[in-house]
Amino acid sequence: MRKIVICCFATIFAVLAVVAQPQLTPKNIDKVIKAMTLEEKAHLVVGARLKDNRAAAGEVGYTSKIIPGAAGTTYPIPRLGIPAIVVADGPAGLRIAPKRKGDLQTYYCTGFPVGIHLASTWNDEIIYNVGSAIGQEVKEYGVDVLLAPGVNIMRNPLCGRNFEYYSEDPLLAGKTAAAMINGVESHGVGTSLKHFAVNSQEINRLANDSRLSLRALREIYLRNFEIAVKESQPWTIMTSYNYINGRHASEDPGLLEIILRDEWGFEGLVMTDWNGGYDAAAQVAAGNDLMMPGQYAQYKAIVDGVTSGKLAEADLDRCVKRVLELVVRTPRFQGYKFSNKPDLEAHAKLTREVAAEGMVLLKNDNLTLPLKSRKIALFGSNAYNFIAGGAGSGNVNRPYVVDLRDGLLGNGISLYEPLDTRYQKHIESEHKRLAPQKALRKWYVYDLRPTELQRPHAHIIEAAQSDAEVAVVSIGRHSSEAFDRHVERDFLLCPDEEALLTAVSREFHKVGKKVVVILNICSPMEIASWRDKVDAVLVCWMPGQEGGNSVSDVLLGKVSPSGKLPTTFPINYDDVSSAKNFPRNVPENGLNQSRFNISTVGKIYDVKNIDYTNYEEDIYVGYRDFATRKAEVAYPFGFGLTYSQFEMSDMKVEESRDGFKVSCVVKNVGNFPAKQVVQLYSSELAPEVDRPSIELRGYKKTPLLKGGESAVVEIVIGRCDLMTYNEKAAAWKLTKGDYDLSLGFDSQNLPLKQRITISKEVLKPVSTAMAPEKGDVFIK
Ligand code: BGC
Repeated sequence: MRKIVICCFATIFAVLAVVAQPQLTPKNIDKVIKAMTLEEKAHLVVGARLKDNRAAAGEVGYTSKIIPGAAGTTYPIPRLGIPAIVVADGPAGLRIAPKRKGDLQTYYCTGFPVGIHLASTWNDEIIYNVGSAIGQEVKEYGVDVLLAPGVNIMRNPLCGRNFEYYSEDPLLAGKTAAAMINGVESHGVGTSLKHFAVNSQEINRLANDSRLSLRALREIYLRNFEIAVKESQPWTIMTSYNYINGRHASEDPGLLEIILRDEWGFEGLVMTDWNGGYDAAAQVAAGNDLMMPGQYAQYKAIVDGVTSGKLAEADLDRCVKRVLELVVRTPRFQGYKFSNKPDLEAHAKLTREVAAEGMVLLKNDNLTLPLKSRKIALFGSNAYNFIAGGAGSGNVNRPYVVDLRDGLLGNGISLYEPLDTRYQKHIESEHKRLAPQKALRKWYVYDLRPTELQRPHAHIIEAAQSDAEVAVVSIGRHSSEAFDRHVERDFLLCPDEEALLTAVSREFHKVGKKVVVILNICSPMEIASWRDKVDAVLVCWMPGQEGGNSVSDVLLGKVSPSGKLPTTFPINYDDVSSAKNFPRNVPENGLNQSRFNISTVGKIYDVKNIDYTNYEEDIYVGYRDFATRKAEVAYPFGFGLTYSQFEMSDMKVEESRDGFKVSCVVKNVGNFPAKQVVQLYSSELAPEVDRPSIELRGYKKTPLLKGGESAVVEIVIGRCDLMTYNEKAAAWKLTKGDYDLSLGFDSQNLPLKQRITISKEVLKPVSTAMAPEKGDVFIK
């Protein structure tokens, strides 16, 4: 009896104790903060992994807590009703573990096309739909924040993460990101726009210093983020690993408070990239609210910082508040009962459709495509080991990948069998050969790919003389975070690929048969030296789990390609404006090339392109450089053929108080139903500072137009969109004078033009935060 009474008292006491604590609600955040101890506050701003060991804290995000395979969780404080929330990657779909111990259910997620592929659609509506589908998977699998999209500028074709990103152009990147964010967040879950900022190389990513002018920052490397923030207000932003002009991105109040919050009006939370940054107290002071995935050392640095007076408790409170504001928005806080049953079937259909829409047809001589015959000879190991997406945090645990071979067969195409059998055997033995090396490889590193058939000549001759009426050759390139690509055997063809293409085209052309190349690639590669050998080239990027089906839909003409390049394909690697300021020939352990040791001697700017990278090309990135220099390229920015022909006419420009409404009529003058993209570029005729000869200002995809059909396309731009960042005035400036607005279907072919006059100068002063520390941009 006595025991029962004691028990009752203890329970009542415990209940009263909880009741006496404020419990988190959206309205009492300040009260909860007041009730928190310093230790609780420090815990809350450091993710829940909390191991005092950088290596053990995970190289790429993986947690077994709450939702296995997610990238991390925040720290729960039950006494105040603060739950842990779950964050998971990434840009091509949700990344969680597909299986759980002792559980028969599977947790696969839809593998959508990668970022560069999505952006190639130039179709904000379809991107929104992809975002919405991913958002549903995030919500129904119990995740609160998706760690995507990645919006960094494709400064160089060798960046190992280009596949996750959208474009070399900040407008296309920013708008695509906004559409994705709005789609995901329409489900009441969050996103994390990443990696903020100037993170365009992977080698030595934890310590590389990106050194650039304020103008390049404002016009190129921040502009993408600015557009996305203003058009979608993401729940969170992830800071990048690198330094910018000598300051670590996650420790720079200029970037995080002045520019992001004060200037752009960002209202959400800022988190680090995984184990990013060096000084947790400095991160808190800078407005980087959450350290992920969380190390004990960070927790301690924050507690010690406040105790010693080095870190103001008010700064910590500001971060705590933002974490709590995020927590109360989440489905987990709101008690949402997730089903673990997202609509994977509908999403598989969507990914098949969007992948076909984003493919870019670079060449199609004499209407080689769509295929006239259903009997083909399929070449290339890649066709049997198709690449759905890149490696690293951007990978998705998808239920399956439709290889090119299976896609073709499944869609009524027959393959020349002896060749098919030969390739299957070859792939099997390659998988066996590579298995031991693959077993030693970390899961987030780019894949070891099967080589080409050795001595293929007899097979090629036989196939050319068979009843196969066309040759399809598939070539692939994989890449991953933490590594950049190479020029040899990567940007360029490998010698055995080149030999294969040469021999296939010789033997097939001899007998009057055509050759089609499918490029299953992560980023641009060299094409100019070999394209004349073949009849058609289709870039299918990394098309997600339905890849083989989507390519078949295009080859068979069920869909016309309508993708446009979001980045230039140069003729030679050395034509790229950043080529000499980018790591080259760095071996696979490039990740650890840095000479600097932050803990004992501070940052040493020592090895060029490794410890620091000079953005000497300034604002002249991609087409901004090629077009201004009138330099030849293999395929220009914005380029992509369809199976039809289009014309544009009737350009009109209507001026309003805020800007311009530009319209034209687009007509499908061929007879194949297709979509087309109208691109609007501006040029200032007599600029007072150097300006690129053209800059993308807007774009719009038409609906599907049948032969003979036309549509009126309207693009609205603001007057401010024509501004340039003026370093002397430390302001965005709209200069008086004449500007040409040009319309076309790619950046090199702009048939319609109208002149406008800006009669009133506008100056919009902004902060000079983030200027190079020593006044000198580059350390040579
Ligand atoms: C990547 C991030 C990713 C994080 C969590 C990091 O290695 O840079 O993009 O969100 O891991 O997986």
